[in-house]
Amino acid sequence: VSGGDQPAPRPFRAIAFSGSLRRGSSNTGLVHLARRLASSTDLAGRLQVEVAGWLRDLPFYDPDLEADLPPVAARWRAAVTEADALVIGMPEYNFGPTGFAKNAIDWLTRPLGAHALRGKVIAMLTSGGKGGGTRVQAAVGPILTLLGNTVVDEPPVTIALGAERIAADGTADPAVEALVLDKLRHVLAVLEA
Ligand SMILES: Cc1cc2nc3c(=O)[nH]c(=O)nc-3n(C[C@H](O)[C@H](O)[C@H](O)COP(=O)(O)O)c2cc1C
Repeated sequence: VSGGDQPAPRPFRAIAFSGSLRRGSSNTGLVHLARRLASSTDLAGRLQVEVAGWLRDLPFYDPDLEADLPPVAARWRAAVTEADALVIGMPEYNFGPTGFAKNAIDWLTRPLGAHALRGKVIAMLTSGGKGGGTRVQAAVGPILTLLGNTVVDEPPVTIALGAERIAADGTADPAVEALVLDKLRHVLAVLEA
């Protein structure tokens, strides 16, 4: 840095997780796609997306575990606390979230009053069945809002039969890429507002 140059502002940070445990999961693909787009487009340096690929070992939430927190749960809470935003690959199972996704959310809501999941800007990306998974977002969105977060609704990312279009490593067709990039732009706009 020379003269009167301002140091570059730090990028906003998003932590991402997938609500699907399936090896070939298209919802896992959506979060990897988000990570790649954030680092390979003009968003680079402005928004970082880190995928919490280590989350699958999270046990079922049990208040009795609070006394001796499993390391993965402590890591999860710390990662979300440090993040500005959350990107969720949110599958639709029976018109709602997967048990894994709901459990990951529940872990972030205690201890009461000092919980991690508040004040975050949240984007849900859903690869669903024929209907695209609109119902899970309609179900979970209000919950995340009630917990004190800002859910970015635009543009809706609910991809019908997404498993045919998105590989678990984040490879996807250009239309899916464009939609996820647009979502990240909206996330950044809310963070920068
Ligand atoms: C138990 C179960 C319930 C499902 N229920 C729905 C549903 O309600 N709506 C929907 O759009 N797709 C539903 N699907 C289909 C999934 O959306 C589809 O398999 C999707 O690819 C799963 O995400 P993944 O590729 O990340 O594993 C269901 C799948 C399973 C296994």
